[in-house]
This record gives sequence, structure tokens and C-alpha cells, in this order.
Amino acid sequence: MTNRRGMAAVTGASSGIGAVYAERLAAQGYDLLLVARRKDRLEELARSLAEKHGIRAEAFPADLAHDEGLRSVESRIAAADTLTMLVNNAGFGIRGLFQESDLARQEEMHRLHIIATMRLTHAALRSMTARGRGTIVNVSSVAAFSQSPWNTTYSATKAWMNSFTEALAVELKTLGAPIKLQALCPGFTVTEFHEVMGVDRKIVPASWWMTSEDIVDESLRGLERNKLIVIPGWRYRTYVFLLRFIPNSLRRALTVAFARRVRRKLAGAAASQETTKPV
Ligand SMILES: NC(=O)c1ccc[n+]([C@@H]2O[C@H](COP(=O)([O-])OP(=O)(O)OC[C@H]3O[C@@H](n4cnc5c(N)ncnc54)[C@H](OP(=O)(O)O)[C@@H]3O)[C@@H](O)[C@H]2O)c1
Repeated sequence: MTNRRGMAAVTGASSGIGAVYAERLAAQGYDLLLVARRKDRLEELARSLAEKHGIRAEAFPADLAHDEGLRSVESRIAAADTLTMLVNNAGFGIRGLFQESDLARQEEMHRLHIIATMRLTHAALRSMTARGRGTIVNVSSVAAFSQSPWNTTYSATKAWMNSFTEALAVELKTLGAPIKLQALCPGFTVTEFHEVMGVDRKIVPASWWMTSEDIVDESLRGLERNKLIVIPGWRYRTYVFLLRFIPNSLRRALTVAFARRVRRKLAGAAASQETTKPV
């Protein structure tokens, strides 16, 4: 029997925000195509969601930062004649000075956030526009709205995602194509993200952390209201709103002053740890 909702493809479904999209969309009755590298996790999630919600769920293990994996997902999506939703969610962050960072890892991040988002969106859109129905969510970040030291390329790739989503929405509207688009811009969210990046969650005050459930629920409410840019949480919405009123030159100067202070603090903490080390 054909599913009325159609199929949703979710990248990065093996943990965090992607796994919650999978759960919420299964509960709404979507069949699922679950993509990430960790096969065991995808298979377990697909099995449990299919059992719980009576939907079809396919685990599709692939590395989207490399050509072979990306092409395989692209072909699967292009051939999916029931695809009605795509969530480009897979991603990771790199912390540290750009000039000292591992260039291969940098390239993987650009491939994942930019090339994979662009290619999978292209593959999905052709069939979605032909059928006059579809939704694409690009999971960006609140980091897309500012530039900060030690986080240079992450912010830049997420700014690309916002710009791409907005431009595509305008293009599709011009054509009168009934495709919904959203750039979801979460702030700090408790997932495996910071563990993968090697950053201690304690450096951010507890009140700034959100859950993946909060993030996905705001995204889904945003889709109901046709919101193109969704920033979950009042703190982050206020932050982005206030950024509009600060001239760029002042914003950069404040960022440098703040980053220097943090750097001195971190250097101080490291030095005191060094002196208290047992010999
Ligand atoms: N957590 C936050 O504070 C935060 C804030 C703003 C935006 N975001 C964005 O939210 C999205 C989801 O991240 P998350 O917070 O849920 O982190 P997460 O728990 O680490 O999940 C990241 C997902 O991406 C997948 N992934 C990573 N590299 C991949 C690759 N090369 N090919 C295929 N899949 C890959 C991972 O699966 P495998 O390891 O199994 O491949 C995992 O399923 C990311 O785009 C991130 O930039 C997160």
C-alpha cells in the first residue's frame, strides 16, 4: 500500500537531532530512509521505528563526505518516487585555529555541509517539483549569523546553507513550485556533536543548552507555519535579532576583545594546572 505521507530521507540519523527527526517523522506516518555511517545504529533505529509506527524504514549506511557514499545516496534519493521530504542534517564541527587545523578534516566538513547538501537537494528537487510536492530542511546553525575565532569554517559553511536555502526558496517561489524549504538554526544542543569536536560542554552555561527534541519540534512547527529560517529558543532568537543593530566593524571589534579575554583565561587555567601537576 502507498503511504499517504510518502518517504522522508534523513541524513545524520544515527544520533542527536537526526535521530529525533526520524522518530518524529515516523510518528507522523512517513516511511524513512535513514543515512549515516554507523550501520548498526541505523539498522536498530529503522527496526524499532518500523515496529512501533507501522512504517517502512530503510537503513542506508554511507559516508557523505566521500564521493562513493554521496553518489550512492544521491542515486537512491533520485530513484525514490515517493520521496516527499529531505532533511540535510549530517554535520560536525572543528574547533581550533584554522591555520593549525587538519586540512583533510576541513575538506570533509565542506563536502558534508556544502557539497552533500547541494547534491542531495538537487537529486530530491527534480522529482519533488515534477510531483508538485515536497519539503527540504537544511540543518544549519545559529553560528551562520556570526563569525568567530576558532570556529571559522563551521560558521562559513552554515552561512552558505542559510544563503542557499533562502535563494532556492526565492527561485522556487518565482516558479510557483509548491516546495517548502527551511534552514533550521539551532544553538547549543545536547547531542554527540561536542564530544565529536572534542569540546567540554561545561564551557557553556547550562541555561543555553537545548535538547534535540526542542530543536526538532520547533522545526516541525516552523514547517506548519511555512517559516523559512527557524531559530529555536528565545535566547538565540534575541541574540540574532540584536546582531542586526550592531555595525559589522563594532561586532568584529567586540568579538576580538571577547576572544582575547577567553584566550587569556584558558591560558591562565592551563598554566595553573601545569604548576599543580604532581612530579
Ligand atoms: N549540537 C549542537 O550544538 C548543534 C548546534 C547547531 C547546529 N548543529 C547541527 O546539527 C546537525 C546534527 O548534529 P548533532 O548535533 O545531532 O550531532 P551528532 O549527534 O554528532 O550527529 C551528527 C550526525 O551526522 C552524521 N555524520 C557525521 N559525519 C558524517 C558523514 N561523513 N557521512 C554521513 N553522516 C555523517 C553522524 O553519523 P555517523 O557518525 O554514524 O556517520 C550523526 O548521525 C549538524 O549539521 C550540526 O552542525 C548542532
